[in-house]
Amino acid sequence: MTTRRGFLLGAGAAGAAILTTRRGLSSPATDQKVSIDLGKETGTIRPELHGHFAEHLGSCVYGGLWVGKTSKIPNINGHRKQAVEYLRGLVPVLRWPGGCFADDYHWRDGIGPAAKRPKGVNITWGMYTEDNSFGTHEFMELCRLLDAQPYLAGNVGSGTPEELRNWMEYCNYPKGSSLSDERAANGSPGPFNVKYWGVGNENWGCGGNMSGDEYATQYRRFANYLRPFGGTAPFLIACGPNGNDKVWTEKFWKNMRGNRPSGFAMHFYSNGRRNTATHFTVDNMREQLASFPSIEAAIIEQRALIDTLAPPNQRGPVGLLLDEWGVWDQMDPAEDKKYGRLFQQITMRGAVAAALGLNIAHRQAGKLVMTNIAQMVNVLHALLLTEEDKCVRTTTYYVYDFMKAHLGQMSVETETGAPGAMELSMSASRKEKDLTITLVNPKPDATVNVTCSIAGGTTGGATGRILQDNDLNAANTFTDPNHVTPKVLKVTSQGSMVAVELPPLSVATIQVRLA
Ligand code: AHR
Repeated sequence: MTTRRGFLLGAGAAGAAILTTRRGLSSPATDQKVSIDLGKETGTIRPELHGHFAEHLGSCVYGGLWVGKTSKIPNINGHRKQAVEYLRGLVPVLRWPGGCFADDYHWRDGIGPAAKRPKGVNITWGMYTEDNSFGTHEFMELCRLLDAQPYLAGNVGSGTPEELRNWMEYCNYPKGSSLSDERAANGSPGPFNVKYWGVGNENWGCGGNMSGDEYATQYRRFANYLRPFGGTAPFLIACGPNGNDKVWTEKFWKNMRGNRPSGFAMHFYSNGRRNTATHFTVDNMREQLASFPSIEAAIIEQRALIDTLAPPNQRGPVGLLLDEWGVWDQMDPAEDKKYGRLFQQITMRGAVAAALGLNIAHRQAGKLVMTNIAQMVNVLHALLLTEEDKCVRTTTYYVYDFMKAHLGQMSVETETGAPGAMELSMSASRKEKDLTITLVNPKPDATVNVTCSIAGGTTGGATGRILQDNDLNAANTFTDPNHVTPKVLKVTSQGSMVAVELPPLSVATIQVRLA
């Protein structure tokens, strides 16, 4: 399988050959020498760097995660059982209820006996009736089932400081206040101890169309009343920029006084709206993947800007979140109608994109506190797609499954020698004798024979898994749910080197046991 030439090549040297891939198809092959330096640590990969997002949008919550207690679809108290089983252990943190929906959400509508909850209208995502059957308690139960930390996005756009402060008291105050007693009467005597609180969402757009300075004024007003109810110090997250919008960031921080937020949430989508998800061309893909170097640059530049405008204090630096990210393709009107707004299929190109994003999160672990892919089920860059009782794991799902070994490990410096959206991407992390390496070959037509040298360590053996398809539009569908699934990847290891063959359009994870 693996060409041994890689072991013989000097740094930066590359050669080309025709190689037969695992599927027997021929593709040009290049050799690429990459390196890992175990001595250069770049930050702990916090579990929150693999965060998720679920909004009342399309069929993400209703019909996706939540099928209702009386559904024929197997469920746990209304939560789709298969989704819970697939996602448990993969969701360190879950953001809810939006998105844009959050700034028109009134939490009191979603508590108490479900039949008595008021019915509203989801004005953001299609003007349909929102029956509020999925509310705070249902969300907290889902988080418990998934072993996820809850992250509540508060309503600034159409809400009041009183409403958000009361939601916090309702969730976090142990007992004795009317709101905490109401929580107990609604079935949850113990506090939810919610740490992560968003103070609005995209307030430069759907969350109120404000400028950075206008939002700073609102932020200060809302945050003033958000306290450590029950001893849970809230990690308050202010709305950050759309992409790398430095004007927003400057205006916000120049107008920030008093207790500053713990987090600043940037949103950065990878648009590919020229084609629907399963009809991408190589050019569409190249254009979309070009956003990833921009995301990495945005993280570095926004981090530097925040540190200049709000230097680290005794509580440390302000945390930067990549609060929403993922591929956003052109929607297929028929699918949108059938499965709900922003439903898109996830393909091998989607897997490559997910892995490029997570590799960035790992490499920039020292600069980020959280990332949330949008969204967990049936919307945009989803992990699961559902149709009635069917629940399909997308290629995104397998990428998160591959990458979870990085969580809690120390990110270490990597060098591929060839930056660029369509070039080999890599991240690595280590805990004691375990070294995890993730490699992505986004090239649609070339195999890359990777030889990786590990400075500061020798291997005592290595194993690997690969997700690959030569077709960038290949996907797991309701009729062919296992079309793209992980396979064993042969890894050659010797001394301080590991080598693998990465066919076109592949994501690989390698576990090295250090000697
Ligand atoms: O994820 C879909 C939408 O994208 C969210 O509601 C919003 O925050 C963003 O614009």
